[in-house]
Amino acid sequence: MAKDLRSFIDALRASRSADLVEIERQIPRDLYMTVIQEKLAKQGRYPAVLFRNVAGNRWPTVTGLFSSYSLLARALDVDPTEKGRVLAEYMKREANPIAPVSFSGRTAPVQEIVMTGDDIDLDSLPVQQHCAGDSGRYITIGCMICKDPVSGVTNVGTYRHELKGRARMGCMMNPVQHAATIRGRHHAAGNAMEVAVFIGHHPAYHIGGASRGPLEHDELAVTGGLLGEPVELVACKTVDLKVPAYAEVVIEGRIPPGSFDNDGPFAEYAGYYGAPMNVPAIEVTAITRRRDPIWHDLFPSFREHTQVGVLGREAQLYRRIREIVPNLGGVHLPPSGANFWHCYVSIRKRAQGEGKLAGLAVLGSNYDVKHVIVVDDDIDIYDDQEVLWAVATRVQADVDCSIVTNSFGAHLDPTAYGETRSERGPMTTKVIIDTTRPLSRQFAERVRPAKDLWDSVDLRDYVGVGNPGGDNPGR
Ligand SMILES: Cc1cc2nc3c(=O)[nH]c(=O)nc-3n(C[C@H](O)[C@H](O)[C@H](O)COP(=O)(O)O)c2cc1C
Repeated sequence: MAKDLRSFIDALRASRSADLVEIERQIPRDLYMTVIQEKLAKQGRYPAVLFRNVAGNRWPTVTGLFSSYSLLARALDVDPTEKGRVLAEYMKREANPIAPVSFSGRTAPVQEIVMTGDDIDLDSLPVQQHCAGDSGRYITIGCMICKDPVSGVTNVGTYRHELKGRARMGCMMNPVQHAATIRGRHHAAGNAMEVAVFIGHHPAYHIGGASRGPLEHDELAVTGGLLGEPVELVACKTVDLKVPAYAEVVIEGRIPPGSFDNDGPFAEYAGYYGAPMNVPAIEVTAITRRRDPIWHDLFPSFREHTQVGVLGREAQLYRRIREIVPNLGGVHLPPSGANFWHCYVSIRKRAQGEGKLAGLAVLGSNYDVKHVIVVDDDIDIYDDQEVLWAVATRVQADVDCSIVTNSFGAHLDPTAYGETRSERGPMTTKVIIDTTRPLSRQFAERVRPAKDLWDSVDLRDYVGVGNPGGDNPGR
């Protein structure tokens, strides 16, 4: 059986872990699901949430599939307690892509129901408004497939789509994205760009779709590598494209030259509303789906948005830093830094100045990163508290911090500025904070429990049943 969204949810359920919460009580379609996610986060919980009863629709909605590193580990079928292994496993599989194959059965699950013409009604899908200030209802985790007319290569990327009518929806494509380049090529030749957006699949599809590479890079082959099995593709019903046969829903359509609509305000990933803009608009030609689909949603102004692409970015940074600092321990983009704007790097320092060198490698490899914190490898880069402790106890700002001003950065950063600094623009100020200890002199000894004692003490023997502070069942 192919790996898909429902097999992933079944595996989560079978794990009996805190990574899945299922909610039976009816929930309104708009605004509520995101509040439930925020409330769970306030308790330090970042599970996938399956809402079984969404008002106005028979389909369940799952959200939060990328909310934690533990869920990313589960998407790759790696032990979620071994955070450091997740990136290593991702990099190994990304380097071994498996080409997609054609679906060989009679009817692909995603084409059990086919709606075309007047039967198309985007509002029949449980698409929700996520935040009060959003301009409307958005599909936030659809994977859009299109084809480059020059190379013939298929491209996959995630774009948001605001519903604009029964058969019309927006498509917000940042001009730097491959899909935007491809749209430009179709329209320059006077042709519409055909698209197919699939919604609801195994999370590895989105992680693979966010992998970094040139335009010719085949994201579906990377997905196959991540899953350890080829993606099975089936021909669309109304456009000349192929889509994953085991998706839950597919929306087919075309973007004619000159087709635009407004988008936004929209609650963006960094926690602020983005301004309204004009974006290309898709004319929908078909909706195909399973008989009993599970709708996949994603809270865009929440850590799950950025976590989708974290492994692809961490892998790219790891390769680049290691070229210049071979004794690299690890690299992590933590959710506390909106994922893309803070970068933690650990090294086994062997040469004076190597901490700053690792920081420079990060800044030269990824324009979104604003603050790099380099630590020795006794610090756990997956633990913000440890990293901040290193900043507190191993840094004197005048020598350990280096600032680069007026560098290209993330345009969604509300503090970004232009060349005169009096107006908004694409530039930010970058900082390297080097917390690595000096090699040339003795540094204070760190207090740590003795290793044999640490290994021999089992918390469950001491913090168990009946202890209000304990959350383990005891034994
Ligand atoms: C959940 C999610 C939503 C995204 N939404 C958008 C979007 O609306 N517009 C956009 O330009 N990029 C968006 N991105 C980023 C692109 O999907 C990502 O950069 C992708 O690699 C682009 O692929 P492409 O360059 O091959 O087209 C989103 C990413 C994720 C994970």
